[in-house]
Amino acid sequence: MSDEIDWSALRSVAELARERAYAPYSQYRVGAALLDAEGHIHAGANVENASYGLCLCAERSAFGRAISDGVRSFRAIFVLTQGEAPGTPCGMCRQVLAELAPGIPVRCETVGGARLDTDVAALLPFAFDAEKLT
Ligand code: THU
Repeated sequence: MSDEIDWSALRSVAELARERAYAPYSQYRVGAALLDAEGHIHAGANVENASYGLCLCAERSAFGRAISDGVRSFRAIFVLTQGEAPGTPCGMCRQVLAELAPGIPVRCETVGGARLDTDVAALLPFAFDAEKLT
């Protein structure tokens, strides 16, 4: 496959996932689209809970699906949020990105089109990883 990332395809998947988000408490709906090394896209939406601490972010939701489908290699992630400025992955999601997809590009966009392009290394420098467990 070509090295080009089809961000518009990722955005389409994130849009549908975002529509499916379960966010009755925050009303902040998030959709994620995770591109794997084979070119498949895994969707994720945030899933909230009346016990707020159990809220699952869209990014980790997408990783849960992909890993459950046997996928271990990733190329990019797209995160779609509402609001003025793009929502960036939370600290917990950054740690999960560093574990499962170190270095991949991360594009964060709002529904209105505001964009932030970054990558996992920039989002979580000096990440704690398996190498430190020796
Ligand atoms: N949320 C995500 O889905 N991804 C993030 O990286 C930040 C926050 C969700 C969690 C919660 O359902 C809502 O946004 C408000 O925090």
